Amino acid sequence: MLQSECLTINQDNHLTIGGLDTVSLAKEYGTPLYVMDEDQVRRNCRLYTNSMKQFYGDNGMILYASKAQCTMALCKIIASEKMGLDVVSGGELYTAHKAGFPMEHVYFHGNNKTEEELKLALSLGVGRIVVDNLHELSLLDRLCTEMNKNISILFRIKPGIDAHTHDFIMTGQIDSKFGVALENGEAMDIIKKAATMKNISVVGVHCHIGSQIFDLEPFCEAAKIMVHFMADVKQELGLSLTELNLGGGFGVQYIETDDPIAYDKYMEAVSQVVKSVCKERNLPLPRILMEPGRSIVASAGITLYTVGAVKTIPNVRHYLAVDGGMCDNPRYILYQADYTFILANKANNEKNVCYTVAGKCCESGDLLGRDVMLPAAESGDILAVTPTGAYNFSMSSNYNRIPRPAMVMVSEGKARLVIKRETYEDVIKNDCV
Ligand code: LLP
Repeated sequence: MLQSECLTINQDNHLTIGGLDTVSLAKEYGTPLYVMDEDQVRRNCRLYTNSMKQFYGDNGMILYASKAQCTMALCKIIASEKMGLDVVSGGELYTAHKAGFPMEHVYFHGNNKTEEELKLALSLGVGRIVVDNLHELSLLDRLCTEMNKNISILFRIKPGIDAHTHDFIMTGQIDSKFGVALENGEAMDIIKKAATMKNISVVGVHCHIGSQIFDLEPFCEAAKIMVHFMADVKQELGLSLTELNLGGGFGVQYIETDDPIAYDKYMEAVSQVVKSVCKERNLPLPRILMEPGRSIVASAGITLYTVGAVKTIPNVRHYLAVDGGMCDNPRYILYQADYTFILANKANNEKNVCYTVAGKCCESGDLLGRDVMLPAAESGDILAVTPTGAYNFSMSSNYNRIPRPAMVMVSEGKARLVIKRETYEDVIKNDCV
């Protein structure tokens, strides 16, 4: 099954992305190779921007959560789609800046921003800082005074929602390293404190309940809790908060059985909740921000590998080893994440062999998938893993001193290099002897 509308199979029985033959791409650029379809990214962006318009009008903005994949090429695409950007480190901020991203549409997140990162954010003029805790608030207050800057902030709030997803990517519950809690009064206290600070304007609140979520209900519940909290702030402190950032977390399809929510259904439901609680509590409608990461880029990306050793352990298992693995895609070893596998040069052949797909790192857990049905494979075949647009390149490493792969972007039938393949010289460039 092909997961994304950018993938097809051509008359040579080869997988194509954005109309380009993946076997030819592998030959031209080498493997492992990340391939992104720009047109698919833009389609995903528009699903969000159009449904925001349809259900909430113009008083909202979609921010792309760049942790899913942060490259200068992507920052430029996001800017041209008139979206904002969520960055979570100095490195992501710097990438956006170098790509010419409009800084006023950048939201700077993170649970432990350093002084250096905050200074960079203030000097580049980011639109908003999403403050996580009291330590950060005090630091920011001091830096604003020293640098003579004013900044608008949101606070990251833990709404107390337990979303059904992997433990490591669940973030909205009270026992989380992110944000301040509602139920123990911490959130109200920090806002009260910030309201007294001369260079800081508290304009809103933010929450993010987790990632790869398939239910609508936790999002609606979070929106409800957050709007009620905004009304409580108005009531208790007389402070009008105008922005509500509802985070990201919308699930995508990795395998046939994954069943994501259509984004317009999400927007429709959440808009209704926000409107009805605002009415009930007599609040003006806030500006709404949403921060999808995975669902903007995942389905637009695949990774191509060359098959090397194919090893059969009689009566046990067939191993198929590829020229990448946990260094370009650590999601299997971290989360036992599922993917769809396609033998790109035999795309429509019958899938009659069960393989465990292994990487090349010196680590038994370095797999990309277990019990994967594929056509009989041989060394030299091209294996496509999909969808890998989100949290693959961005989480890649040089483990075993393996150079990171190149990335090409395809659009309107053409491919261009957006990330060069690392060389061994790149790998040792910061070594001092
Ligand atoms: N906003 C905030 C504040 C976040 O922390 C995140 C993700 C997002 C937005 C975007 O969430 P998305 O729409 O992509 O689900 N490495 C994990 C995912 C970690 C997500 C962390 N925060 C993975 O590979 O599944």
